[in-house]
Amino acid sequence: MSIVNTSSDIVIFGAMGDLAQRKLIPALFQLESAELLGQDTRIIGVARHDEDNDSFCNICEASLNKFVKTHELEAEALTRFLAKVEYCPVNFTEADSYQELKNSLDMSAERARIFYYATPASIYGSISKNLTKSNCINTNSCVVLEKPIGHNLRSSNEVNDQVAEYFDETQIYRIDHYLGKETVQNLIALRFANPLFGSQWNQSHISHVEITVAEKVGIEGRWGYFDKAGQMRDMVQNHLLQLLCLTAMDPPDDLSADMIRNEKVKVLKALRPISAEMCNTHVVRGRYTKGLVEGNPVPGYMDEEGANPDSNTETFVSIKAEINNWRWAGVPFYLRTGKRLPEKLSQITIHFKPQPHFIFDESQRHLAQNKLIIRLQPEEGISLQILNKDHGLNKGMRLRSESLNLNFSQSFEQNRIPDAYERLLLEVIQGNQYLFVRRDEVEHAWNWCDQLMEHWKHENKAPLPYAAGSWGPKAADLMLIKDGNSWYEDQ
Ligand code: BG6
Repeated sequence: MSIVNTSSDIVIFGAMGDLAQRKLIPALFQLESAELLGQDTRIIGVARHDEDNDSFCNICEASLNKFVKTHELEAEALTRFLAKVEYCPVNFTEADSYQELKNSLDMSAERARIFYYATPASIYGSISKNLTKSNCINTNSCVVLEKPIGHNLRSSNEVNDQVAEYFDETQIYRIDHYLGKETVQNLIALRFANPLFGSQWNQSHISHVEITVAEKVGIEGRWGYFDKAGQMRDMVQNHLLQLLCLTAMDPPDDLSADMIRNEKVKVLKALRPISAEMCNTHVVRGRYTKGLVEGNPVPGYMDEEGANPDSNTETFVSIKAEINNWRWAGVPFYLRTGKRLPEKLSQITIHFKPQPHFIFDESQRHLAQNKLIIRLQPEEGISLQILNKDHGLNKGMRLRSESLNLNFSQSFEQNRIPDAYERLLLEVIQGNQYLFVRRDEVEHAWNWCDQLMEHWKHENKAPLPYAAGSWGPKAADLMLIKDGNSWYEDQ
């Protein structure tokens, strides 16, 4: 299926929820503001609440005031946007209650219909069935599924099977919002448009790779959800593995969705399974205790509101991942992600191997590694660390490490970096699936994570403590030190 007409009915299930109000409505507003929505597009909010169009518009307007910068909330665009917004109350699990939704849809056969499930995955099957039974689906319909889809391979298969009864894979858009980040997409351009990197991107030239996704925030009142997931399911199974795939994959034959996704799947399949013994050497699992973040005292995970004293959930994971293929044999990919770390930072650091023979002063040998730092957020950009001669008559052939920096917001005319959801919604509207996760990707990612989480279950050890505001348990530093490496910010 390909949606060619950009005017569509965009139906958001869970329209009163946090995701819809914090991310989807603001993203759709930005698309309208950039005149990318199509004149006849309608946004139909669906939830159980008994609202009407006006009250729902008021709720959306309040969210826009909160989540869109004032200077971007231009009055004319706001009026245009709110004119497109409607509301329809539906009890998601009751087929009869979909009649009203059907009546509000544009029934022309060609009309593109996008059904966004911003709800728990446990009801994706039920919504799909009820939409189909009540004839809300035409040949130009698609569904957008939010993560987490299940909490392991088995449960994710259940959800995917239920949805697959009513929609084929070309109609299913599985969101990993990291794929919508401009800088994440730029990985493809950086790697495959620049011969300079293309020829160096392998085990002959790269010694190791770091992928850090650090957050300052804790679990933000989501204890109930988070405690069942933990950092492994919440961040590693999806965002970090996607970043790893884009960093490690072979060049796709072209930029079509399936070519890109085929290459990502090859990486996931080549990931070395983590055995029980490797849990001690290749994995660190942590949980924050109270501490200071930016100088402000914050409670520990177990002191957060709603905490269950029996919890054994991790808020930090660091893994030495290995990819068993020709390109990456012997190159560790150190993954690290955690809540309540000192800063919000998503960054990929490629460490190149040193020169085979060092002709400069021995005391400078430690400088001799080029690094490419791909800064995904914030201060999006790229920096290449190179060695220069230190300037001056009396410096001899002293070396100095310097950076070639490209800061995206300073370098590009349009200095507003769009939110990931804007890009993703636009791609759904245009029928492009390359930024969405195919079912086999989800399965291979779960497979790798499940094995590791099974070992944790058998070990039944508490996660290692780390003070909020630190970079995680010391063991995460030691894991690299044993290999003669260190995390980028420690260098
Ligand atoms: C979500 C996780 O997928 O990603 C959250 O569920 C996390 O726990 C968020 O905070 C991080 O996203 P971003 O775009 O702020 O890095």
